[in-house]
Parts: sequence; structure tokens; C-alpha cells
Amino acid sequence: MLQNDLLLRTLKGEQVERPPVWMMRQAGRYLPEYMVLREKYGFFERCQTPELACEITIQPVDIVGVDAAILFSDILVVPQAMGLEVQLVESKGPLLPDPIKNINDLNRVRVADVNETLHYVFDAIKLIKKELNGRVPLIGFAGAPWTLLCYMVQGKGSKTFDEAKIFCYTQPETAHRLLQMITDTTIAYLKGQVKAGVDVVQIFDSWGGLLSPDDFENFSLQYIRQIVAALKDEVATIIFAKGAWHSLQPMAATGAHGLGIDWCITPAMARQFAGPNVTLQGNFDPAKLLSPIPQIQKEVKKMLNDFGGQRHIANLGHGILPNVPVDHARAFVDAVKEYGKQSIGA
Ligand code: CP3
Repeated sequence: MLQNDLLLRTLKGEQVERPPVWMMRQAGRYLPEYMVLREKYGFFERCQTPELACEITIQPVDIVGVDAAILFSDILVVPQAMGLEVQLVESKGPLLPDPIKNINDLNRVRVADVNETLHYVFDAIKLIKKELNGRVPLIGFAGAPWTLLCYMVQGKGSKTFDEAKIFCYTQPETAHRLLQMITDTTIAYLKGQVKAGVDVVQIFDSWGGLLSPDDFENFSLQYIRQIVAALKDEVATIIFAKGAWHSLQPMAATGAHGLGIDWCITPAMARQFAGPNVTLQGNFDPAKLLSPIPQIQKEVKKMLNDFGGQRHIANLGHGILPNVPVDHARAFVDAVKEYGKQSIGA
């Protein structure tokens, strides 16, 4: 039994005392306690060692007081499990030295046997659930097929992912075959996470907003739809497709319980597009956590008022930045908790 089930109740559309709060990328580099482990162990070593993944996952629960834990891992463990080499280069980000460029390269990837290649994630989840001991729910996650294709084809981070787009536009059949392989792996992977104990799953489509609405449907949403359809009756699902606000309506129609939004759309517009029957998550500009604390408090209050207090999960509109002071992150979380106290009295 969960002691704090605000997140689950909000995703089900139940009345809550206040919105739950967590932060995307909350387990990471702004926490000095994370940096200590980062000095000692490589990135994938941290992901693959259940004890380390467990400790890092729980850090933000203890240190900043969020209402949910999110599994410490990375979206790029899926391309790795499918057969591609993935490195994390210090201060540069992900590097895939042999990216997919054409149909012949598909021979180098396969739909992963997740129990063989990603069992360490399932082991970590079991350990985290035990250590959390019902304090807060645990969120599992995977990258959306389009966002994973971006890295698998481009081979590294990019502002435009132009090579990934050209690949899709000039070799659409190959692109769709790859997207389907990623989708099949992701469904098995997320089902494994649910079996191991996660309470919610989030699909990160960080680069969904790079596509036009038609291309988003074709290269991203049709695959996300398959994933949500396979999972939604087993677990609460959240789709976060950054910048793809134009498609909130079809995203709501997938039956996902929650939709993440970034700070480039107002809560009122997002609600209008998404309709009344889905929970919205977001949408604080992560850079605003660098403002003075009184300003954070004021802006959080405005955000919560704008969302209206129900069917809302307080979060950032994208991941927390590494240079955010811990007390600013805590001020964000506390401001949401304070708001709850005020509205009960009102
Ligand atoms: O949210 C959490 O706290 C859980 C852990 C988590 C990580 N990555 C840990 C991580 C999650 C949910 C992710 C998802 C992820 N990874 C996404 C989608 C979300 C988003 O931010 O858009 C993407 C695009 C990636 C790919 C990735 N992994 C990049 C671009 C980088 C390097 C730059 C960066 O943002 O840190 C990573 C590495 C990574 N993943 C780190 C962490 C804590 C940093 C590693 C380190 O330097 O210690």
C-alpha cells in the first residue's frame, strides 16, 4: 500500500487535496549526493548496478521531498539492448559510434529479448520498491520510438536532428521498420517494468516537437499509440512529447492518463486542446528555477492557479538543469505543498 498516492489519484482523475509534484530528471547532476557517486562509477555502471540505481532514484525523495520517484536509468539503454553501442561522453552527452544509415544497418539491430538484456532494470525496480517501502509511487519510463530513432540515426545529440529527419523522409520504409522494432522492444520493456513493480510509466518524446503535425502522427504518434494501447489497462501512462502541443487532442485520444506539456503553451490552451478527461503535467520553465526563491514561489502559485488545482501534476516543462541550487529545487516542491495547505483553508 502507498502512503502517498496523490500522483495515482490525480492520474485517475480523482479529487485531490493538492497537485502532486515531481521533476523530470530529478535524479541527477544538481544533487551533490549524485555527484559523489558519479565520481566513482561510470554512467552505465550506475544504471546497471541495482544498488546504485536504487540509491540515486531515492535521493530526490529524501532530499527535495517529491511525491514520486522516477527510476534512475536512461532512454538509451533500449538502443543498447537492441544491439547498438552507446557511450556517454563526459560533458558531450550520448555518442553512438555506428549509427543506422540505411536498410543494411537494420541487420545490426533486433527486437531485444528484454529479460536477457534489461533484467538489471527489473532488478533495480524490485529493490527500489522494497526500499521505498510505500512512501511514494515509482515511475518507470522509456523513450518514444521517434526520439530513440533520432539518436540511433544521428548518432549523437543535436538541436535539429536533421540526419534523422532526412533518413525518415528519404527512406520511409526503413524508418518505419526501425520504428516498429523499437516499439516492440519498448512494449516488452515497459511490461517488464510493470511486472517488476512500477506504478506509472512515462514515455519521453523529447524531440517530438521537431516534426510537423503530419510527420508527428506518421513517425511518432502512431507508435506511441501502440505502446499506450498495450499498457494502459495495466498501469497509469503519461506521454511527454515536448513541443508537440499541436497534437494534444490525438494524444489524449490514445487513452493515456496524463500528458506532459512544456512552458511554451498556457495551461488554458493545453486544456482546451486536450479536453477534460486527461491529467496535464508540467509546465514550469526549468530555467526559472535559477530565479530568486521568492520569485519561484510566486510563479509556482500562478502556475497552480492557471491549471486550476485538479487533474494537474506539478512538474517542469523539461528536465531540471544541472546548475540549479538544491534549495531552489526544494523551494519549487515546497511551494506546491504550501499551495495545498492554503487551498484547504480557503
Ligand atoms: O528523470 C530522472 O531523474 C531519471 C533518470 C533519467 C536520465 N535520463 C538520467 C541521466 C531519465 C528519465 C532520462 C531520460 C533521457 N535521457 C531523455 C529524455 C528526457 C529529456 O531530458 O528530454 C533523453 C533525451 C536522454 C538522453 C540523454 N542521457 C542525454 C541527452 C544525456 C546527456 C545530457 C544530459 O542531459 O545529462 C544523458 C545522460 C544522463 N541521463 C544523465 C542522467 C542523470 C547525466 C549523466 C551524468 O553526467 O551523470
